[in-house]
Amino acid sequence: MTDTSNLAGIFEHDQKFKGLMKRLFEIAITHSFDAMMVTENKPEYPIVFINRAFTKITGYRSEDIVGQSPSILQGPKTDRAVIDRLREDLSLGRIFHGVAVNYRKDGSEFLMEWKIAPVNDERGKTTHFLAIQRDVSA
Ligand SMILES: Cc1cc2nc3c(=O)[nH]c(=O)nc-3n(C[C@H](O)[C@H](O)[C@H](O)COP(=O)(O)O)c2cc1C
Repeated sequence: MTDTSNLAGIFEHDQKFKGLMKRLFEIAITHSFDAMMVTENKPEYPIVFINRAFTKITGYRSEDIVGQSPSILQGPKTDRAVIDRLREDLSLGRIFHGVAVNYRKDGSEFLMEWKIAPVNDERGKTTHFLAIQRDVSA
């Protein structure tokens, strides 16, 4: 094999792997028991994606919440100390993990446990955040 055909083989393998990873990710996020949310890394963190489990926990559907800030989930009983820690973790590129009172679309309270991880591009710039969330009220 020449160098070029080797490269072509690697490229094809890479493309197949990326395609497989994309399909696996779509299936995992759709059928996950945990809620998942993707936001942009912009002021107010506009939501770009939520999965079915998120709708089940919060009552918000995509059409209600895409483009809004995740702070829509907060209310009077949300622990500000947890939110301050979240802000600090995100600004330092750290993974956040916390628990706080959140509010469903119908205004009812529940206890949210969630993690947020930065999603970086090839240059290491954070373009999005991924949150994994669950109702731990019980
Ligand atoms: C990906 C992502 C998911 C978030 N999920 C939640 C959440 O489930 N519950 C919550 O109370 N805040 C959540 N937040 C935090 C708020 O959006 C906001 O960042 C936080 O309140 C700090 O903003 P502030 O400085 O305007 O208070 C999330 C933030 C990001 C980036």
